[in-house]
Amino acid sequence: MKKTKTKFLCQQCGYESAQWLGKCPSCGAWNSFTEEKFSTQIKSGSPVRQLTGFSSEVLKLNEVSVKDFSRFQTKIREFDNMIGGGVVPGSLILLGGAPGIGKSTLMLHISDALSEQGTVLYISGEESLSQVKSRAERLKVKKGNIFLASETNLQNIIDAINKIEPKFLVIDSIQTTYHPELTGAPGTVGQVRETAAEFLRIAKSKNITVFLLGHVTKEGDLAGPRVLEHIVDTVLYFENERQHTYRILRAYKNRFGPTSEIGIFEMNSSGLSEVSNPSLIFLGERAINAAGNIVTVAMEGTRPILLEVQALTARTVFGMPRRMVSGYDTNRIIILIAVLEKRLGLPLGMQDIFVNIAGGVKVKETSVDLAAACAIVSANSGFICPKDIVAFGEVGLAGEVRSVALCAERLSEAQKLGFKKAIIPKGSLKNLSYKGKTEVFGADTLEAAIKIFGN
Ligand SMILES: Nc1ncnc2c1ncn2[C@@H]1O[C@H](COP(=O)(O)OP(=O)(O)OP(=O)(O)O)[C@@H](O)[C@H]1O
Ligand SMILES: [Mg+2]
Ligand SMILES: [Zn+2]
Repeated sequence: MKKTKTKFLCQQCGYESAQWLGKCPSCGAWNSFTEEKFSTQIKSGSPVRQLTGFSSEVLKLNEVSVKDFSRFQTKIREFDNMIGGGVVPGSLILLGGAPGIGKSTLMLHISDALSEQGTVLYISGEESLSQVKSRAERLKVKKGNIFLASETNLQNIIDAINKIEPKFLVIDSIQTTYHPELTGAPGTVGQVRETAAEFLRIAKSKNITVFLLGHVTKEGDLAGPRVLEHIVDTVLYFENERQHTYRILRAYKNRFGPTSEIGIFEMNSSGLSEVSNPSLIFLGERAINAAGNIVTVAMEGTRPILLEVQALTARTVFGMPRRMVSGYDTNRIIILIAVLEKRLGLPLGMQDIFVNIAGGVKVKETSVDLAAACAIVSANSGFICPKDIVAFGEVGLAGEVRSVALCAERLSEAQKLGFKKAIIPKGSLKNLSYKGKTEVFGADTLEAAIKIFGN
């Protein structure tokens, strides 16, 4: 006997309610509830055939046999590195990003590489087989061991998996796939959650590596983001916007590897190619001899990257001065502005201030503070920072410049790109192992750093 239940689900966070609500009590989103029907079978048996093969035996830890845990490498170095040395067999990987950013493109490259190590089943719910094929031709995919299907019904996908028994499964995308027993439209939280849970069972029971591709909404959320992020082993996001030619892939969650590494790719007609020297790219269009621009070295995982921090100040037109930041933490910039006003006496109260990290990178590290603060000073006073200086360091509330880690690595990268001078935290000079050509200056305060720039 079948019974249908109606629930209202918050499309932002998956919160369930028996009736419609205007505001979600869990995540605070307005007007985010949609009605979704679930049919439950009262008799035993689950709504869809579950591909269970999961052992429910209870074993002692040392009795558990370890399945082959050797990773599959794609030889796409940027990808292998960021995911922790290759993909883990039987893992569930979510690849998210804005529409058109290159999810399907990257996935085809990865499928191509993985098909040498096992059968790939590529399910496209968004494009016809011939569209996928024509992309594959453009990307020069070797058409060997990749099976394609244009399918959105979970049941049929499961049938295809049983028939082909792939080692790798690609679902493009999770939002177009639907569970036939649920009446909610594809892409709703209920659908996304149920289908993802089914793919998790498939991954774990059959030891298939499953890639789920997903769109991100304008606000940067995946439909049903939190529910999905909990289910999958690894979450990879394309971080920047489509207007940049290079694409940054970042791991937000990784059960089997680091989350600090990024993968940098460049989009061109033959697909996504790896960027082996990111600093060169990010400094490529640098505005030399412009006030407000200062180069810094930030660590992205184990890799130092040179970035240009740009600041612009303009007299505010309205009563409230605006602070707009992209690529760095807005709150940190607001603090830096307060420090500049209070400790250096800079009159920034009636200035609109814009700070941008060129190239669309989002830096989480605090070592950008020093360059950002100096860029604001430069923009405000009009002094032009010499083009061969880099600066990095954290800035404290008293205007002091604090030590940061991995100074030698950062300095080597700056030297590689021809920078002659570097301003670094004075505290980092003590144990500095760097012996290269770039001349190193230590600054203990913001004021001292700005003096060095002036010389
Ligand atoms: N012939 C081409 N030459 C250069 N770049 C191209 C060409 N065709 C497509 N592209 C690039 O590929 C991008 C689309 O890539 P892709 O289809 O992999 O994105 P996606 O993230 O899967 O998009 P969607 O969300 O629509 O599925 C385009 O934005 C464009 O930049
Ligand atoms: Mg796509
Ligand atoms: Zn919610």
